[in-house]
Order: sequence, then structure tokens, then C-alpha cells
Amino acid sequence: MSNNLWSRREFVKRAGTTAGTVAVGFGLADLLAACGSTSAPAATGTGNLEIFSWWTGPGEKEGLAQLFNFYKQKYPNVTIVNQAVAGGAGSNAKAVLATRMQGGQPPDSFQVHAGQELISTWVKASKMEPITSIWNAAGWDSVVPKDLKDIVSSNGDIWSVPVNVHRGNALWYNKKLLDSKSVNPPTTPDEFTSALSTLKSKGIATPLALGSKGNWQVQMLLENNILAAGGADFYKKIMSAQASFTDPPVKQALTWIKTWLKYANTDNSAIDWDEADNRIISGKAVFQVMGDWAKGDFTTKKWVPNVDYGVVPSPGTTGKYMIVCDTFGIPKGVKDHSNAVAWVQVCGSQEGQAAFNPLKGSIPARTDVSPSGFDVISQQFMAEFKTDTLVPSSAHGSATPQNFANGVNDELGQFLIKLDVNATASKLQSLSDEFLKTS
Ligand code: GAL
Repeated sequence: MSNNLWSRREFVKRAGTTAGTVAVGFGLADLLAACGSTSAPAATGTGNLEIFSWWTGPGEKEGLAQLFNFYKQKYPNVTIVNQAVAGGAGSNAKAVLATRMQGGQPPDSFQVHAGQELISTWVKASKMEPITSIWNAAGWDSVVPKDLKDIVSSNGDIWSVPVNVHRGNALWYNKKLLDSKSVNPPTTPDEFTSALSTLKSKGIATPLALGSKGNWQVQMLLENNILAAGGADFYKKIMSAQASFTDPPVKQALTWIKTWLKYANTDNSAIDWDEADNRIISGKAVFQVMGDWAKGDFTTKKWVPNVDYGVVPSPGTTGKYMIVCDTFGIPKGVKDHSNAVAWVQVCGSQEGQAAFNPLKGSIPARTDVSPSGFDVISQQFMAEFKTDTLVPSSAHGSATPQNFANGVNDELGQFLIKLDVNATASKLQSLSDEFLKTS
């Protein structure tokens, strides 16, 4: 218990590391917000609302559509412009967003991960409007865990509203296929290796589905494996430059990936996470390590949890929860300000989160959404979220700055080709020296 509480504090501390040290320039909008004059104005009820995200995949777009439906029920005369840029994990969207933000053409609101992905970039550059007054007027302190609030806060203000919590350390499997081969769901890395080997010997040539387009999926394997090999304390330290990527747990983490790649599809660099899901559904593969947006995909394809598919924590991470938290904020100078405020209110609302999360595969960020509208796996995750040790994802923007994650993605692309554990560990440490030491 006390360990969990401690871990939660450390989780928040790491996710918001740069928050207190960033010098944010305050402009008129901030002053007005601080005085409460932008607090929860009514939407005009007309005009446009431009929402930027990367939710184009199965489950993602259905979840987003639910939020849009709910918004339209409240504001039927607002035209929602869906500016979603395809590419899992924002692999293409983030660059498009950067161009728009730098060019003074921000969308009315955009998807961004809680923590450093927003704080160390657009908040630091003074391009965001605080949503503190919206938050306070809505009373979200009483329904959003303080841990999550702290991650989206810096310099005494709140910068975005969490709409969900995804779990990044999940191993999904085709249950009927696994059962038919008499293999148990593996819980340790060694058990996973042996399950892959058994499945291959029983006729499944590539039992591990991997979509590595953009390489962020390999970064998920890496961070989950570092958590498995080094534990939550080591994970926290390495993501804050207090341990080295040349330390044994990282080399172990890379070695496991290297071993598992022998069982993965060789066209992995050409496909994304949802295509990897399809390999599991069709029975070409049995397993995929992926966030629970994979479950959103399974749900849209009418795959039944604990019947057609199952899930266990990624190998070696039982009792730990890798947090991937999507949020929405409001840039300064947006065209449709009151509609954007109403959007943020919808994202933070009980009804919005109840409609969105069952299709998205995530659990609500709010604690007052009834589990009854969720499938059995989400219900289990909601319970585990309360007791597991929480750690913030680096691959998905909470633990480390974006430029570090970008560098790691590039490096892991090289690793997939060269499979050189020592060279990769050294390169990762160089990235830590460059991007984490100063943060
Ligand atoms: C994550 C995001 C999820 C999901 C996933 C795949 O970064 O937090 O909501 O969209 O990418 O695209």
C-alpha cells in the first residue's frame, strides 16, 4: 500500500519534471484566465470547431465520433471539423501540429499526451491557454485523481483535460488459438519466449504480430521490458537520467526484443498496430504487445473479450500499469474560442467519458464513471489502476520530452536492422545525455 502511494507520487513527479522549472511567459489571455474572466463561457452555438488528433484507426475514430455526437447534442449548430491525421501514436500528426502551431494557425483544440509532450513543448513556448478556470468551474478536482491533475499542471496552472487512461503494458492474444495449441498465457519474459517457440513448432510461423511503422511500437516493447527487467524504481530513474541506458536491465530489455523478433512477421516496418491486430484476428499470429487501443479495435470488429481474445500484463510487468493518457487543451489565439472551451468541457464531462472510453478501449480519467458500461477487461483494468504501481509512458509522451522519444524511435529503427544490443544501449544513453539531463 505505502509502496503504491509512494510510486504514485514518484510517477507524478517524473511526468511533470520540467513543469516547475519552465519559465512561461504570461500574456493578456493568461491574466484574464487567472482573473476568471474566461471561466466556462457558453459556446456561441454557431460557427466551427476544429479538432486535431491522430484518431483515424479502428476504435479510435469510433470513440472520437462518440465525443463529437455528444458535443453535437449540446451544440447542434456548431460544425465540427475533424482534422485527424493518420498514423498511430501521432507519428505523422505531431509534425503537422508543430507546423501549424509555429505558423500561428493552431487548431481550436488538439489531442496531446498528459505531461511532458505538452508541458515541455507548447506550454514552455507560451503557446497554450491555461484551462484552470474551466477546470475549477467544472469542479473536476473532485472527480479526476490528483495524480492526473498534477501531470497536466505546471506553474500553478492546468493546461489540458485528461479524457482517458490507456494501458501501455498489455499482451493481447487470440484466445481460441492459444487454447487450441495448449499454451498458457505467459506472464514472464522467459515464459513468453517459450510460448513463442512452442507455437512456432506447432505450425504458426510468426506467432508474434509486430507493426513497427514509425518504430514507436518497438519503443513500447523497450519501455515495458525495462520495467520488467529493472522494476518501477529503475524505470523511474532511467527516464529521469538517474540511471544509464548501458545498465544491465536495458541490455536485458533489448535482448528480449532481439529474441522475440525471431518469431515476428518480417514485414513489420510496413505495417501499423491495427494491421498487427488483424494478424491476430485472422490467426496468422497469436500475440501482440500493444496499448489497450487494440481492444478498441477488437470491439469494433465484434471480437469478444475473454472468449475470442485475452490479455495479460506484458511479460514481467504484473502489478504495474504503464499509463498513456490522452488530453485536450486550447492553444492561444484559436479561431473559435468559446466552441473550444465547450469542447474541453465535453472531454472532461462524465457523459463524454462514458460515451468515448468503451469504444476507445481506455478507462475514464474520471473516477465517477460507472464501470457497468464497460467490457470485462476494462472493468479489470479500472480495478487494477487503483492498486497497481503506476508508471508514465515515455513512448507516449508523459515521462520524457518529445525530442527524446523521437530519437529513441530512430535508434530502434536501426536496432531492428542491426540487432546490436551494446551499440543501441550506448546510442540510447547519448540521447539521454542530450535530452534528459537538462530536463
Ligand atoms: C497513442 C494514443 C492512443 C492511441 C495510440 C495509437 O499515442 O495515446 O489514444 O491513439 O496512440 O494511435
